[in-house]
Amino acid sequence: MPAIVIVGAQWGDEGKGKATDLLGERVDYVVKPNGGNNAGHTVVVGGEKFELKLLPAGILSPQVTPVIGNGVVVNLPALFEEIETLASRGVATDRLRISANAHVVAPYHQTLDKVTERFLGKRAIGTTGRGIGPAYMDKAGRLGIRVQDLFDASILRQKVEGALRQKNELLVKLYNRRAVEIDEITDGLLQYAERLRPHVVDTTLLLNDALDRGEVVLMEGGQATFLDVDHGTYPFVTSSNPTAGGACTGSGIGPTRIDRSIGIVKAYTTRVGAGPFPTELEDEWGEHLQRVGHEVGVNTGRPRRCGWYDSLMIRHAVRINGFTDLVLTKLDVLTGIPELPICVGYDVDGVRHDTMPMTQTEFHHAVPVYETLPGWSEDISGARRLEDLPTNARRYVERLEELAGCRISAVGVGPDRADTITVHDLLPESR
Ligand code: GDP
Ligand code: IMO
Ligand code: MG
Repeated sequence: MPAIVIVGAQWGDEGKGKATDLLGERVDYVVKPNGGNNAGHTVVVGGEKFELKLLPAGILSPQVTPVIGNGVVVNLPALFEEIETLASRGVATDRLRISANAHVVAPYHQTLDKVTERFLGKRAIGTTGRGIGPAYMDKAGRLGIRVQDLFDASILRQKVEGALRQKNELLVKLYNRRAVEIDEITDGLLQYAERLRPHVVDTTLLLNDALDRGEVVLMEGGQATFLDVDHGTYPFVTSSNPTAGGACTGSGIGPTRIDRSIGIVKAYTTRVGAGPFPTELEDEWGEHLQRVGHEVGVNTGRPRRCGWYDSLMIRHAVRINGFTDLVLTKLDVLTGIPELPICVGYDVDGVRHDTMPMTQTEFHHAVPVYETLPGWSEDISGARRLEDLPTNARRYVERLEELAGCRISAVGVGPDRADTITVHDLLPESR
């Protein structure tokens, strides 16, 4: 029985939360393998809107066991705030399971995120300021605090002391900030230990046992392919691996157990934060997409930068993630635009590229080469089959499928769970 992975194919906010929610009724476990509360997923169920950050969107489906995997960095106050908000709206959260190996985002990580951005000045990444980068730095640097450390006060103290020896040098001498006290950090973390305890298990055992029993596990990647620290537009990336391979590492599920790798693709392109974006529109069409698509970050309230669809990026994402299926979202946002440019190549200093350029410098210089398809003006939000779409909308979808080299198995025509065209079932036949 299969594990399925959902991955953002662009720069995030493609609608991964909605895609998870769509499958939610038919899967048993949903695990978040990477990232932290830098993510923001909006899910609309029967007109009711939910905003998720640290919790996987699967928490909204009553029969799903939601899991925070070992690859996640957990901000404890943010976690319990989210749990309380959901509980107050009638969503049961006691099923939540959290990996003992997940790392903790400590207050000094958030401070360091903010001061580092300020220090970078013009070269700032435009992070969400949630301490994600510094927490992953400590994980890789072997100075991190893990969830399990909260259950051993003396170990926790030793680890915090080790981390602060370095952090306080940085904070005081480089960034001109006050030093952080060991007690302040350990006491702050320990106050969550007892609330955390019932949720913490060996999640890799839990998930692999579930697969052995024939249950379906969905891995819901946060962020996206081009924010991946290895495959993204480095250094304008996040500090985890939001690609399909990273989902294996971040949940402890082996690659041979994955049946489907599903890429979530917006019908145009958006990006929050700094970094190159060849098809970005700084004209009225950019504003149009931003307004009609409500392109404002869930997490930080920043407007998302908007641009036309980039088929080179998607082909690259198909390759990196071994996508078996794509879910195309927000097609309805394109309704009413008379002509729809699709980027089919880059001109880099007079040289034509049909694949992502090898170097970041070339990507920064990439000028999109467009092919233009005619648009449509009919309302498509009621479409439930491809045949319900106007001819030009169908042609757009078919052309994107052809350029991606991967089948489009579902198309989003509105934010609600119900506003979806299903072309191919996203779950293996047996479900
Ligand atoms: P995620 O981070 O990938 O889960 O995506 P976000 O939730 O940050 O951003 C996607 C936004 O688009 C959310 O507000 C969704 O409610 C909305 N959305 C998802 N699919 C569709 C769709 O097909 N049409 C429209 N109009 N909105 C959609
Ligand atoms: P979801 O899961 C869009 C971006 C930030 C910044 C860069 C690094 O909702 O798609 P970080 O705080 O992670 O160190 O910031 O990554 N970023 C996202 N952009 N959607 C997200 O998540 C993002 N998570 C991080 O804007 O450019
Ligand atoms: Mg988002």
